[in-house]
Amino acid sequence: MKSFKLNNGIEIPAIGFGTWQIPDGQEAYQAVKEALDAGYTHIDTAAIYGNEKSVGKAIKDSGLDRNSLFITTKLWNTERGYEKTIVAFEKSLADLQLDYLDLYLIHWPANETQFENWDQINADTWKALEYLYQQGKVRAIGVSNFPKAYLSKLLETVSVVPAINQIEFHPGYLQEDTVNLCQSNHILVQAWSPLGSGRILQNETLIALAKEKNTSVGQICIKFALSQGILPLPKSTNPDNIKKNLDVDYFDLTADDIKTIREFPELGFSGSDPKKVTF
Ligand code: A2P
Repeated sequence: MKSFKLNNGIEIPAIGFGTWQIPDGQEAYQAVKEALDAGYTHIDTAAIYGNEKSVGKAIKDSGLDRNSLFITTKLWNTERGYEKTIVAFEKSLADLQLDYLDLYLIHWPANETQFENWDQINADTWKALEYLYQQGKVRAIGVSNFPKAYLSKLLETVSVVPAINQIEFHPGYLQEDTVNLCQSNHILVQAWSPLGSGRILQNETLIALAKEKNTSVGQICIKFALSQGILPLPKSTNPDNIKKNLDVDYFDLTADDIKTIREFPELGFSGSDPKKVTF
């Protein structure tokens, strides 16, 4: 498995298995088990997904060496602030049955729609992540869904620069300003919904490209993210798709293919604008 190197020198497997919208219990357990069997070594979950216990059990039952895996979870929005963040982290760790995490992310920034002191809340929460990082409980820390303006504001206050910003990214939704800020600050961008959560799979240009390359639209989307220096986190509960999404080395996207995809008008946006969400 190829990897990216984070700004603190840690290696992160270049494709991760996303678990958003996979219900807790047998479904999440089975999907993570399939993913680990298929060769994924990087699993992405979050407290709000409600499936940390099943994800943790699948990891444990896999018998794989913990040090060969890269496990991410995220702090939910109700737990922001220094003290609450530390407590929430310990709960996630216990639910996952782990004694350290590879990556911990602030799931969404406090925003100006909900909080007058949104920037202070984000800075305080970040300080807790820095503490956890300095204690060696997590190998890397980062944020998620931080648009350019929010990330710039946070960067004014940090001692440890975030290693990651995990954002919605797929053909038809590129968030160029945010990606450019991240890449110029050595912050790796991760793509959630790299396949637009299935909303872009019927796009005719992508279908034609997939046909030409003898691959699938899903794999084109994954390859596209990688071509942009972005780490995709495809989600699937289908064993065939789980395997396919890891198998993207047998075809190439040309500079023209990439240009075509980059020029798509907006397509498949989730509707969740971090500046406006009320959750
Ligand atoms: P399924 O679970 O049946 O595979 P995203 O990762 O952008 O959130 O997209 C997830 C959605 O895309 C799910 O509905 C998943 O369905 C579907 N999906 C995942 N991988 C593929 C693939 N290789 N081909 C087609 N659909 C896929």
